[in-house]
Amino acid sequence: MNLPRVLLTGAAGRLGSVIREDLSERWNITPVSRSGRMKTAVFDLLSLKDMERLFDQDFDLIVNTAAITEPSECVLDPVKSWKLNTLWPRRLAIHCAAQSIPMIHFSTDLVYSGGIPPYTESSPAVPSSLYGWTKLIADRFVLNRYQEALIIRTSVLCGEVNSTRTTFSQDILAGRVRNVYVDCWRNHTPIHGLAGILPDLLERSFSGIQIVAGKYARSRSAYAEELLTNEGKDISDLILTYAPPNTPSKLHLQVRSLFRQLVDQICLNMDNK
Ligand SMILES: NC(=O)c1ccc[n+]([C@@H]2O[C@H](COP(=O)([O-])OP(=O)(O)OC[C@H]3O[C@@H](n4cnc5c(N)ncnc54)[C@H](OP(=O)(O)O)[C@@H]3O)[C@@H](O)[C@H]2O)c1
Repeated sequence: MNLPRVLLTGAAGRLGSVIREDLSERWNITPVSRSGRMKTAVFDLLSLKDMERLFDQDFDLIVNTAAITEPSECVLDPVKSWKLNTLWPRRLAIHCAAQSIPMIHFSTDLVYSGGIPPYTESSPAVPSSLYGWTKLIADRFVLNRYQEALIIRTSVLCGEVNSTRTTFSQDILAGRVRNVYVDCWRNHTPIHGLAGILPDLLERSFSGIQIVAGKYARSRSAYAEELLTNEGKDISDLILTYAPPNTPSKLHLQVRSLFRQLVDQICLNMDNK
């Protein structure tokens, strides 16, 4: 059987590396990144020449996980962030529309202000960070250019990844993050469940903005405490603290029951492996 040929950008990142690992039996993946880490092909998506080299190849699907994902990095280099997080997905949407191939792009709960939960796909979005704005405007640009594109809004990615970029849960378990906010609510999202749901979403022809995230919101401190307790680790090193001003706090996402069930099933199957 011929597997669909899939271009995966950001393949050395957290989500990209998991998509590559978990879906390689269902998709024939061409993994690309900026650095070439984890045996990915080197393509700088800010370079016109590299972009053209990519678009010269034939794919049946393009999955874009490339982004500048640290809000502080966006502030340090707003132009680069705007180009990668906003203009690149727009350019990609134009290409996918012209080729009539499906496109999956990832967005974030940080497009919302975090003041009037719960958030659905149609809730008004007013980000409080530059990162959030680059992502929100990308969502608008992508849909404007290609209505059939699938944009997945998700939240804090958690779970085991082999990337040099680590997830929140890995940072907690390794003791790299000790300060956890008691007043910041997010839908901590199982990264393998998120990756595993993608073929299903395509088969069911989902398009537009879809919220796919952990099934309910928890404070970051509650999540961290539960994670450590479940792993039989000491919680006394955690420092429970309040988020700095302007941090979106009530970012509860409302996740469709179908997506919750699909993600649960994938996580269950993985645990049973
Ligand atoms: N992480 C989260 O908790 C979270 C939460 C909500 C939404 N999201 C969204 O989910 C998506 C994936 O996030 P992630 O955390 O997996 O990202 P990540 O780990 O930060 O990885 C980003 C990827 O983008 C690549 N990249 C950066 N600049 C590039 C350039 N100029 N040319 C080509 N590639 C470039 C990086 O390549 P190198 O590795 O080679 O540098 C890396 O592979 C993003 O759209 C993000 O906004 C993430």
